[in-house]
Amino acid sequence: MNDKIYTVAIAGCGKRGKLYADQFAKNPRFKIVGLADPFKDAAVAASQLCGGAEIFDSSEAMLKATQPDIYSFCTPPSVRMPLIKLGVDNGVKLIAYEKPMAANFNEAMDIRELVNKAGVKTIQSHQRKYNVQFQEAKKIIDSGACGRINMVYAHCGGWFMHMATHLADYMRFFINDVDAEYVIGQVDGREKLTDNHPSPDYACAMVGFKGGIRGYMETGYLAPDVPEVDYWWRKVRVGVQGSDGFVEAYVGGGWRAVTKSTGAISSTEGTWDGDHEQAPYINDIARWLDGEIANHPCNGEGGYKDVEIAMAMLRSAIFRKKIDLPLGKIDKAELDYLNEIIPQESPEKSVWDFLKK
Ligand SMILES: NC(=O)c1ccc[n+]([C@@H]2O[C@H](COP(=O)([O-])OP(=O)(O)OC[C@H]3O[C@@H](n4cnc5c(N)ncnc54)[C@H](O)[C@@H]3O)[C@@H](O)[C@H]2O)c1
Repeated sequence: MNDKIYTVAIAGCGKRGKLYADQFAKNPRFKIVGLADPFKDAAVAASQLCGGAEIFDSSEAMLKATQPDIYSFCTPPSVRMPLIKLGVDNGVKLIAYEKPMAANFNEAMDIRELVNKAGVKTIQSHQRKYNVQFQEAKKIIDSGACGRINMVYAHCGGWFMHMATHLADYMRFFINDVDAEYVIGQVDGREKLTDNHPSPDYACAMVGFKGGIRGYMETGYLAPDVPEVDYWWRKVRVGVQGSDGFVEAYVGGGWRAVTKSTGAISSTEGTWDGDHEQAPYINDIARWLDGEIANHPCNGEGGYKDVEIAMAMLRSAIFRKKIDLPLGKIDKAELDYLNEIIPQESPEKSVWDFLKK
């Protein structure tokens, strides 16, 4: 067994950054050598979770001083390319950052080109698929019990910039990374365009995957409920249907299947906490750098495909047509277009009022 210890520097010490600090610190294959956040109290709190790692005034100062193997950043979706550049310029081996890979597809293309040219590995946190309910559902799919897969679906009430790449990733996971060929979608509502995860209030799409598999995705306030799950943010359903049956898993826990060979089977088992999803995600960083696994399950190429499907949903609404993949660049960010074209309406109440109950 490899016992090399990889050094880690973390920028962005909010909710996710603290979880990274905690989980990297718990794994003996890593040593946290620096933390940075413009909000110093956040960095101090993260440092307390990982044995008092040194705090720096900026990511740049941290990377220059520590020259880490791994650079992790957990910042809002608007903060991506400048931090990627810092990692590349400072010669890190791997950049572990948060989903979505980028807040627009032009930036995703630039990031991919930059890191691939520099030979820097990247991963984005689509870590839910490590949880037992997703693993069990995948085992049933891989056993062939569903027969020929013809449909994959994913929906959640959480809004687009939080959730769309998660959904695309877990759909692709269930159908063994089959590539998408085209996307046709629609959006509604502008209330969340000013959120720190700027999004239409609702977005839906049909995704045409190779081999005739149809994907159906919904994010936002019009998405159906997932009554199997109590906590709103975890009401996320991902499933496949095939010639011999279907199987689905819920982020909040549980899975069920009805197939010719298994009959109706289900379980309420399921996890979503850091120890069950973030810990193996982080451990796979060491295994990937060691060369023990050929690819990290959340590698940047996959994250690129996820954001491509997500941004194609928006482009379809923007340009009112089916969008063929692979995507190229357009003259401005998808969200800038949506800001211009989603109708200005003054609803009597917010479409999100139900969340306040
Ligand atoms: N994978 C998941 O399951 C999951 C869950 C929640 C959030 N997220 C993602 O994680 C990211 C961060 O979310 P969060 O909930 O931790 O947000 P947060 O607001 O709690 O923390 C973000 C932190 O980034 C810091 N920051 C902002 N600009 C920075 C910069 N230039 N350099 C360094 N630090 C900077 C802020 O000061 C803040 O402390 C988002 O992209 C979000 O979508 C992922």
